[in-house]
Amino acid sequence: MTEPDARNLAWHSGEVGRDDRERLLGHRGVTLWLTGLSGSGKSTVARRVERLLVERGVLAYVLDGDNVRHGLNRDLGFGPAQRSENIRRIAEVAKLLTDAGLVTITAFISPYRADRAQARALLGGSDFLEIYCAATIEECEARDPKGLYARARAGEIPEFTGISAPYEAPEHAELELPTGREDADASARKVLAFLTERGYIPAANA
Ligand code: ADX
Repeated sequence: MTEPDARNLAWHSGEVGRDDRERLLGHRGVTLWLTGLSGSGKSTVARRVERLLVERGVLAYVLDGDNVRHGLNRDLGFGPAQRSENIRRIAEVAKLLTDAGLVTITAFISPYRADRAQARALLGGSDFLEIYCAATIEECEARDPKGLYARARAGEIPEFTGISAPYEAPEHAELELPTGREDADASARKVLAFLTERGYIPAANA
C-alpha cells in the first residue's frame, strides 16, 4: 500500500460543530477506554455502562474487541505491531465518535502502555478516560468464558495475553474497577457516578 501525500489533503470542518451536537444531546462526548486481560469483564462492564447511560438519556456506543476484529480490523493478528495498529485504528474511530458527541466505550485488551498513551494523546486532555478492569490472571483464567486460557496453556494460541504475551497494567488510570471480585453492575454504576461527579453527564434526576 502506498502512503497518500498528506500535503494534498485538507481537514474540513463542517458548518455544524461539536458544541452544536453536544447542545443537541445535552451532554459531552468522551471516550471511556477500558483495558484489562481477556476475561477481565471489559465487554460486560462496557455493555452495562452503555445501557445505564442510554436509560439516562445519554447517547453511548460500545466498540468491542471481538466485534471490531470481525470487520474493520479483520486483517490484524496479535503480534505487538498488529495490536498497536488495532489500537491506533480504534483510537481514530473513538475520536470521530467522541467528536460526534457520543460517550464512546472501548473494550480492548490494549496491553501496551505506549499504545494507550498514543490513544490518550490523539483524543487529548479530558476526552480520554482510562478505566482499568483490574482482574488478576488467576481470576480471568478461573472464569475462562471462551475457553481460550485452556487452549493457550495447551500451546494452541500463540502470544496469548497474560500467558505468552505481556499485559502492562495502567499506572495512571482515571478509574480502577476490581472486576475480578465485583459484579459488572456494581462496576458500571461506579463509572456512571464518576462521569456525573466530573460533569460529563447530568445528574440522574437533573
Ligand atoms: S488487543 O490486544 O489487540 O487489544 P483485542 O481486545 O482486540 O486485543 O482482542 C482480544 C480478544 O481476541 C480476546 O478477548 C480473545 O477473545 C481474542 N484473542 C484471540 N487470540 C488472542 C491472543 N493471542 N491474545 C489475546 N486475545 C486473543
